[in-house]
Amino acid sequence: MDPLRGVNSQSSISELDDLARLLDRPRLNIERKRSFDERSFSEMGVLDNVNSPGGPSGWETPASSSRNSFEPHPMVAEAWDALRRSLVYFRGQPVGTIAAFDHASEEVLNYDQVFVRDFVPSALAFLMNGEPEIVKNFLLKTLQIQGREKRIDRFKLGEGAMPASFKVLHDPVKKTDTVIADFGESAIGRVAPVDSGFWWIILLRAYTKSTGDISLAETPECQKGMRLILSLCLSEGFDTFPTLLCADGCSMVDRRMGVYGYPIEIQALFFMALRSAMSMLKHDAEGKEFMERIAMRLHALSFHMRSYFWLDFQQLNDIYRYKTEEYSHTAVNKFNVIPDSIPEWVFDFMPLRGGYFIGNVSPARMDFRWFALGNCVAILASLATPEQSAAIMDLIEERWEELVGEMPVKICHPAIESHEWRIVTGCDPKNTRWSYHNGGSWPVLLWLLTAACIKTGRPQIARRAIDLAESRLLKDGWPEYYDGKSGRFIGKQARKFQTWSIAGYLVAKMLLEDPSHLGMISLEEDKQTKPVIKRSYSWTC
Ligand code: GLC
Repeated sequence: MDPLRGVNSQSSISELDDLARLLDRPRLNIERKRSFDERSFSEMGVLDNVNSPGGPSGWETPASSSRNSFEPHPMVAEAWDALRRSLVYFRGQPVGTIAAFDHASEEVLNYDQVFVRDFVPSALAFLMNGEPEIVKNFLLKTLQIQGREKRIDRFKLGEGAMPASFKVLHDPVKKTDTVIADFGESAIGRVAPVDSGFWWIILLRAYTKSTGDISLAETPECQKGMRLILSLCLSEGFDTFPTLLCADGCSMVDRRMGVYGYPIEIQALFFMALRSAMSMLKHDAEGKEFMERIAMRLHALSFHMRSYFWLDFQQLNDIYRYKTEEYSHTAVNKFNVIPDSIPEWVFDFMPLRGGYFIGNVSPARMDFRWFALGNCVAILASLATPEQSAAIMDLIEERWEELVGEMPVKICHPAIESHEWRIVTGCDPKNTRWSYHNGGSWPVLLWLLTAACIKTGRPQIARRAIDLAESRLLKDGWPEYYDGKSGRFIGKQARKFQTWSIAGYLVAKMLLEDPSHLGMISLEEDKQTKPVIKRSYSWTC
């Protein structure tokens, strides 16, 4: 049998079964009890259930708070008001949310635009509240923008690129609305957002799961949009690794921060987008061709990530004892990592219990920093094995002071300082130690942490983090980020009324309140991508 075909047909069938099952099955009615916290949601089988668009679809009443069996936190209503104030309209239809609604800030920069990545938590909040229209409008609007010709100076960008952000211009005289978009040609640093296309696919799946409406994903336009994104990231080149090679600043961390190469954030989103696309591509000739390519890539990508990006105490000890300059396929130290390059902090940071996917792996370079987004997405997409997912949560518990501190959640840990900061960031004054992308704390990440907690059956961790956020977020005016080693200070240049801080909080609350929402942003483990070798031995055999 053609081994390739075997892999493909099985995984595609399991994906489709998954989708069909999710769309058919009625939502479980979960009793909300306090003791619920102690139990694993995945054990209860709630992860597989589609969310019917329950709740009222009126703009004024958030279903989440009206459905609540106990008193909603007063912040919830405030958050919904603020989220609705951030809505952006095109010809009378809501198409997205502005990045920040901060009138006090002197510089607007591009915070008055709809960012694709920033809209994701807004979209999830609306879906969970039974308001899918805005999400559909957004998906279609960005699809139209994708269809435009994109140039930076004289260079033409790939057809599939999705914008980082767009803006609706209203002409009060002519009474017309026009859209301008940014694919990186205006962005600071001129980097194309690799994450936008992945988030777009992930959101299309979330919409499909939440509404049960597969007709949007099945339109020729959406199928083509997906294929164009996939063409960009599945194209052949000189790569020796299945991971995706990127420039610095091509995702949430959109400035130079030493995340060039194979950043965990992009690899996790890539994996999740591939799996999401697999469940939505039609079985026509073009769709099937992509499904085969996806299956092959997933197979290689999951092996590579689970083996080489994974770090726990045992693995660290192995790397510490590495021999170097090994030639040929028998090499244990495949990337020729010099043990002396292991930073001091990691020896203290690594607990006996726990582990994580490190920031980056490339020849002679392992970036040992912890990045929250990549690790949480790895759990949600089941890029992490169940053991690895549990270990990531163990690490968060063991290193709570460092990774959560006083405001959830640290974007990365630790910060880079002094000489290293000069070299790595190019002396970036916005990314000084423990600020912004350099070890700052970002409230938006609360929804990802909560989702990961629910998936791994540890909602009590999420509750602890949400309590921290509730003690300050509203009072502080929903800052974009916090500064300081434990995230105690409102970020130096943080915007207030940052929409994804608001939406992230709402999504976290709704997920905890009704864990069946998790199905729209979580994928169960695909048996096809199960590792052949156990993680701790992968370096030695
Ligand atoms: C900053 C963040 C980026 C975000 C944008 C809009 O540039 O780094 O991730 O999308 O602000 O909020």
